[in-house]
Amino acid sequence: MKTLSVAILGFGTVGSGVYETIQRHQNRLQKITGFPISVSAILVEHPEKHQNKAGDAIITADIDKIASNPAIDVVFEAIVGREPAFTYLKHCIEKGKHIITANKEMFAFHGKELTELAARNQVTIGFEATTAGGIPIIQTVKRLLNVNQIDKLQAILNGTSNYILTKMREEKATFSHALKEAQQLGYAEADPTNDIEGYDAFYKLMILSELIFAKQPVWKKVRRTGITGITPEMHIEEAHANRRIKHIAEITFTNDTISASIEPVAVPETHPLYAIDGVSNAIHLQADILGPLTLVGPGAGSLPTASAMIEDFCHIWGHPEVPASPVAALAFP
Ligand code: NDP
Ligand code: HSE
Repeated sequence: MKTLSVAILGFGTVGSGVYETIQRHQNRLQKITGFPISVSAILVEHPEKHQNKAGDAIITADIDKIASNPAIDVVFEAIVGREPAFTYLKHCIEKGKHIITANKEMFAFHGKELTELAARNQVTIGFEATTAGGIPIIQTVKRLLNVNQIDKLQAILNGTSNYILTKMREEKATFSHALKEAQQLGYAEADPTNDIEGYDAFYKLMILSELIFAKQPVWKKVRRTGITGITPEMHIEEAHANRRIKHIAEITFTNDTISASIEPVAVPETHPLYAIDGVSNAIHLQADILGPLTLVGPGAGSLPTASAMIEDFCHIWGHPEVPASPVAALAFP
């Protein structure tokens, strides 16, 4: 019987979660895809750190060993930053491999180009894990809200920031203590600048913009403020007025114009994002037929992110789909 052979790029918080999920849930995966799944190769920057941690999988720093291996069907990507991830994925797509990525920074910059390349090579890209951790927002918009038009979305898209704000408000933790905890729990990036300065939420919002509106606002025109200026006193002051400080990413589409912002906002008790605490993320959107919809769930961490990636995998393999032509892939499919 054929085995589905996969590779994982990156073996940190997310890559190891994908590996663990594949090992633990072989029976379920086989039921959905029809095949046993084997992890044949893992790519990391420092292979010496990872020897004997992944069964029979080869541990390598050489992308050619993965891209040029015809036996590998699917590549999961969970490395950090735009490069070398973009170059590696292009290479894998050109060799006919399906791609599943968690790398929002790379995908916000290059998602459109990768999607077009994938369509030309008749492979699929899954990017559920790029945005809002384990919450299935990408598939919800792609598959379940096709007739509806979405004209406004407000969201908490960074688990680390929400965790820090919650700890400061609820436990009077200092910013640096709460950040350290978020790093230990695997929520924050190795360099947390993108988390606390709002770039991570910005990238996720741009991915949603491309998906929902088939375009993005001019990046330089998007207001972006992180949470580093928030003090314990601000939380206390807002609490007296029954408000909570939330780091909110917002996007609206009116008269063919997209406006977007990412910034701390003091929201009242009646706001749909008021009660979203800890590492949770949430997306509150307005769809014209449906009305308001809020999705809430774990926004970061090893297994929630692996969950999004493995569901993408089953979507590709359990229900294969290839865009009919490059035109169909002008927006992320
Ligand atoms: P980690 O820092 O835990 O792991 C990163 C992995 O990538 C490491 O195994 C590292 O190798 C490898 N790596 C880094 N640079 C290179 C390179 N130049 N070449 C080859 N391998 C490289 O990161 P995370 O697992 O937390 O995050 C991975 C990706 O997933 C990021 O893009 C992140 O934004 C995204 N993401 C993270 C989430 C989370 O909750 N942590 C949630 C959703 C998305 P080595 O081990 O040898 O150093
Ligand atoms: N560092 C990110 C966060 C991981 O805290 O939200 C999930 O994308």
